[in-house]
Amino acid sequence: MRPRRFTANGPLKGRIRVPGDKSISHRSIMLGALAVGETRVTGLLEGEDVLSTAAAMRAMGATIERDGEGTWHVHGVGVGGLLQPQQALDMGNSGTSTRLLMGLVASHPITATFVGDASLSKRPMGRVIDPLSTMGAEFTASPGGRLPLTLRGISPAVPIEYRLPVASAQVKSAILLAGLNTPGITTVIEPIPTRDHSERMLRGFGAELTVDVADDGARIIKVRGEAEFKPQDIVVPGDPSSAAFFVVAALLVEGSDLVVENVGLNPTRAALFDVLRLMGGSIEELDRREVGGEPVADLRVRHSLLTGIDVDPAVVPSMVDEFPILFVAAALAKGRTVTTGLEELRVKESDRISAMRAALELAGATVTETEDGLIIDGTGGDPLPGTAEGASVVTHLDHRIAMSMAIAGIASKRGVEVDDTRPIATSFPVFESLLEGATR
Ligand code: S3P
Repeated sequence: MRPRRFTANGPLKGRIRVPGDKSISHRSIMLGALAVGETRVTGLLEGEDVLSTAAAMRAMGATIERDGEGTWHVHGVGVGGLLQPQQALDMGNSGTSTRLLMGLVASHPITATFVGDASLSKRPMGRVIDPLSTMGAEFTASPGGRLPLTLRGISPAVPIEYRLPVASAQVKSAILLAGLNTPGITTVIEPIPTRDHSERMLRGFGAELTVDVADDGARIIKVRGEAEFKPQDIVVPGDPSSAAFFVVAALLVEGSDLVVENVGLNPTRAALFDVLRLMGGSIEELDRREVGGEPVADLRVRHSLLTGIDVDPAVVPSMVDEFPILFVAAALAKGRTVTTGLEELRVKESDRISAMRAALELAGATVTETEDGLIIDGTGGDPLPGTAEGASVVTHLDHRIAMSMAIAGIASKRGVEVDDTRPIATSFPVFESLLEGATR
């Protein structure tokens, strides 16, 4: 464990640049590993989760090398060319690596065992086991459909049409990736849109992929299998989920005026910034442009008094990872913030509803936990009291709990003690140094 107390350190000023998007980084390594020839990636997030993906793709035959900071190249094996890994694939803390790679392995004639840390080993895999079993893959999982599990892939797999029972980009992507080495057309019906990085990048690599919208608003995504992938040059935009911590920090700490550069603003990801604006946050988009086929801007954020709101549950999939930090913003807002429809938060790296309720209470916030969300009565702009001597926030191996409570700490009177900062390295290894630089 690596505990740390985060304390007020003055306003956030100047310009910072957050590392590459985690979702896009995973996908660039995976798809690059399926293309014959050299894929070059710049702006790759070098967090532990992405390194787990890289190690697994190497174990299945791809050559993946680092040329310099964030600059990598990948030589792939071709769609259908993944090799039998010789050892269990260690997924660490990463749900995205696990679920997407299960999709890839499912339609190859190979067997792979997936293992992970204590957090990942509690997370449900039934949501991918079900559709991939229908395609013909076989699973031996731990009780409750959890890791460790062994997957016996099949080739040729059976193309399916699958309507997602949960709004999950990971499940959608697992099926589409399985569909790549499956004859015919694999269809995923997505009643509620989730992040579309897989669709965008699959097209970029040359997959035949179509998206139609049904009368009821569902997205119907079809991919033709046995595709031939052409290597790509990929530029990964900055991760909005990482930017979120600095955006909220600048809103909360008096005197702040911060520019966060190169923030990915894909509409399936960026709802937090809209919600914060609705709460009265001053977030200005500068130099809107395209990077790697994704909309990007620099965000200028100034300290603002926020007002509590009822968050529309329809936006949940577009900010599913940002609720922990939104809760921190709500804890300093004027009035009440009500969130609903957050059931999925209970099966992330931790149960983020109960973990954040406990953490914020420890820091002196007024919070009520419901089945599917939190109700937070804010301080009206005053700093939170902070954690008492000897009391420490429990992060449950969850990077976003650690970073959210670090921000709560710099917006508090006494500071907030976080029990373990190590998980931050899964998605945002430079978080602490950037925070120090911005409050210098
Ligand atoms: C991700 C999808 C989301 C998100 C996760 C990354 C992805 O999970 O929480 O951090 O890269 O596809 P779900 O698809 O399970 O909601």
